[in-house]
Amino acid sequence: MITIIAAISRNNVIGVDEKIPWEIPADLQHFKDLTKGNVCVMGRATWESIPEQFRPLSNRLNIVLTSNPNYSLPEGALKAKDEITAIHLAEKTSFAGRDIYFIGGESVYKNAIKLADVLEITHVDIDVDESQHEIVRRFPEIDLSIWKPSTAQWQEQNGFRFKMITYTRLVR
Ligand SMILES: NC(=O)c1ccc[n+]([C@@H]2O[C@H](COP(=O)([O-])OP(=O)(O)OC[C@H]3O[C@@H](n4cnc5c(N)ncnc54)[C@H](OP(=O)(O)O)[C@@H]3O)[C@@H](O)[C@H]2O)c1
Repeated sequence: MITIIAAISRNNVIGVDEKIPWEIPADLQHFKDLTKGNVCVMGRATWESIPEQFRPLSNRLNIVLTSNPNYSLPEGALKAKDEITAIHLAEKTSFAGRDIYFIGGESVYKNAIKLADVLEITHVDIDVDESQHEIVRRFPEIDLSIWKPSTAQWQEQNGFRFKMITYTRLVR
C-alpha cells in the first residue's frame, strides 16, 4: 500500500523556514507507530531536516529523492531520482511487500498524492502566519470527491489542538 503521512495546519502549511511550526509528541509517536518496519520515502530537504543522530530513521528503509546522482548518504539509506523509481527500488530490497510511506516535503507530497491509496493526515488547528516566514511549504488540496475522511476526535497537547484523519481513495 502507498500512503502519504503528513501534519498540516488549517491553511495547509507543512513547514516554514525548513522547520515544522509545531511540536506534538503524540503526532511523532503516531508517525513512528505507522512507519515502523516499512519504507519511508522523502525529499532531500526533509532528509536534511532530520537531526543527524536520528537518520537514517531506524527500523525503516529510508529512500531519499534527489536529482543529484552524487549526493552522499550514510549506510542504511538509499537514493532515488523520483517517486516511481523509489517504489521500484523498495521492491528490490528486503522491504519488498511492505507499505510505502511518502513522508514529505512539499514537492514529494505533490507528486505522491497521485500515487497514494491512503493519506494519514494530522490536522493541526492553527493558521500559520505566512507573512512571518521567508519559506513556506504546503500540502496540496485534499479533494473530497477523491478522498473519504475517517472521523476522529480533537486532541490537545503542548497547546496545540489536533486530530488524526485517515483518508481513503474513492476514485483513481
Ligand atoms: N508537516 C509535515 O508533516 C512535514 C513532513 C516532512 C517535511 N516537512 C517540512 O517540509 C519542508 C521540506 O520540504 P521541501 O518541500 O522544502 O523539500 P523536500 O520535498 O523534502 O525536498 C526537496 C528536494 O527533494 C528532491 N526531490 C523531491 N522530489 C523529487 C523528484 N520527484 N525527483 C527528484 N528529486 C526530488 C530534490 O532534491 P535535489 O535538490 O537534491 O535534487 C528537491 O530539491 C521542511 O520545512 C520540513 O520541515 C513537513
